[in-house]
Amino acid sequence: MSDRYCVIGNPIAHSKSPIIHAAFAAQTGQDLTYQHALAPLGGFDAHVHGLIAAGFLGANVTVPFKLDAARLATRLSARAQAAGAVNTLSFQDGEIVGDNTDGAGLVADIVRNAGVELTGARVLLLGAGGAARGVVLPILEAGAASIVVANRTRATADALVAAFADARVTACEYGEVGAVFDVVVNATSASLAGELAPVPPVAFGAGTLAYDLMYAAAPTPFMVFAASHGAQVRDGLGMLVEQAAEAFAVWRGVRPDTAPMFSLLRQPA
Ligand code: ATR
Repeated sequence: MSDRYCVIGNPIAHSKSPIIHAAFAAQTGQDLTYQHALAPLGGFDAHVHGLIAAGFLGANVTVPFKLDAARLATRLSARAQAAGAVNTLSFQDGEIVGDNTDGAGLVADIVRNAGVELTGARVLLLGAGGAARGVVLPILEAGAASIVVANRTRATADALVAAFADARVTACEYGEVGAVFDVVVNATSASLAGELAPVPPVAFGAGTLAYDLMYAAAPTPFMVFAASHGAQVRDGLGMLVEQAAEAFAVWRGVRPDTAPMFSLLRQPA
């Protein structure tokens, strides 16, 4: 029987992860299956134990279970610990190992696919929730000179900065953003509601990469705003593909080529 993996979420039917991992498996010749797994709200732990009993070797975890996965894991990677959340579980030798490949996926997409250097980059991070927290360490490890965290609720930004205790990470109000940045990452959930965080236009210039962690068929309000102020824009599809490749590498020890995924996933459904 093929090795079994899945993506756990609620809702989950919309997830592109099964398509991505099936393509990776075909490309690398790995004998595995990967399916959707709808876990009931409040029923994450029992669902995972059921998967383990059924012989699954690993699972990706998405909304709203990433914190549950971090809690349930018997061992956490350094990047999962820093993120405070888990998107990749491996079931091995009676252990539930938690990892987080989201930030690595973002960095890979920025550096490899967008061709934008993070070494020495000044980064503006919009938002201070779970998504923002998950990308701080990988961006620092990629060599960023600084990360300024702007958030609607200042106390949450201050708490995020305190958690990292790194002089390169500071907080500010949206209204205090007064200079152009090399990279602006939108880690707010504002795009979900068709809204835009109140980031001043001065943050964007011709040399700015404006990156929305969200992806949708149409450009998000953040991307439209940033582009209108001269920035190069990118949505989170590349991050989705790259975090999947990183998870695949964690499980299987081979990193698939992600380039063919972009044309596949951009096709209209
Ligand atoms: P996630 O896991 O996606 O990060 P979250 O932890 O709920 O979700 O965090 C959502 C983030 O988006 C927060 O930083 C939130 O700002 P607040 O801390 O002030 O709530 C931000 N956010 C959501 N809607 C927003 C909006 N319309 N404008 C600005 N920021 C918004």
